[in-house]
Amino acid sequence: MQPGEPSRTALGAATHRAVHQVLEHGRIFTDPLAGRILGSEAASAAKRAEGDVSQRQLRLFIAVRTRFAEDALRTAFARGARQLVVLGAGLDTYAYRNPLGEDLDIFEVDHPDTQDWKRRLLAEAAIPVPGNLTYVPVDFERETLEDGLTLEGFDPGKRTFFTWLGVVPYLAEEVVFSTLAFIASLPGGAQVVFDYGNPPGKVPGAATENLERRAAAVGEPLRSRFETDELHARLRALGFSSIEDLGPSGIRNRFFAGRGGAPLERGGHILLATAR
Ligand SMILES: C[S@@+](CC[C@H](N)C(=O)[O-])C[C@H]1O[C@@H](n2cnc3c(N)ncnc32)[C@H](O)[C@@H]1O
Repeated sequence: MQPGEPSRTALGAATHRAVHQVLEHGRIFTDPLAGRILGSEAASAAKRAEGDVSQRQLRLFIAVRTRFAEDALRTAFARGARQLVVLGAGLDTYAYRNPLGEDLDIFEVDHPDTQDWKRRLLAEAAIPVPGNLTYVPVDFERETLEDGLTLEGFDPGKRTFFTWLGVVPYLAEEVVFSTLAFIASLPGGAQVVFDYGNPPGKVPGAATENLERRAAAVGEPLRSRFETDELHARLRALGFSSIEDLGPSGIRNRFFAGRGGAPLERGGHILLATAR
């Protein structure tokens, strides 16, 4: 990220979700606030994206990862999870349209510069901030998640669901694994959903190269990628006993089966890991 500025990739991801509501009618992921939080920019972004097929793969992947996370959260809540931590929240709108109600305590963790900007956008869009939401400003590269959450009333003894969407690729590998170690160590038990990419060579293709170029150009270069088998082994070593990992073909089968074509031929993985 550029010093003193909010994350540009957070704006990019939010724009993809808003455009998905218009161009694909929210078919994969429905979010009535996705456009509203962006204000007038949402409609012009949809117009621009209409004629630009190069953005479609990434847009659909972002819709899929958010849908996957929210589906898994619903199941986790039914099984007793009562805290949600949205790591690197960006302009994610879950907390502001939460269908699970006040029994779920929500913590939005993000870089302070991105979080301040989001709070301004929410106010401008007149989107109310619910009473069960706590903002936790943390720079993952300088502070630990544990310190940030502890200061803000997080209860490690309560079963917790973490979403970490579109963030892991931008962090140094040691930060990724120390954060996962903290999640796995929580006495109340935890689950985490995050997306990741395989190293170059395994995922060649214009879409991936395009994303890398754009991310680096806005000061948020991609820093961490993982071989799937090695990642799973490291997650198990940390204490995650169950792993569900959808790569491009798993995503295709679950979300696009019977819809003709194969919109996600290459690209990222979305993973749910459970500790205890
Ligand atoms: C691509 S955005 C994803 C945002 C959101 N999760 C989504 O899916 O739209 C990356 C997010 O990671 C956050 N981020 C990047 N580096 C960070 C750091 N060092 N500490 C805290 N957050 C960071 C940014 O502020 C931004 O919100």
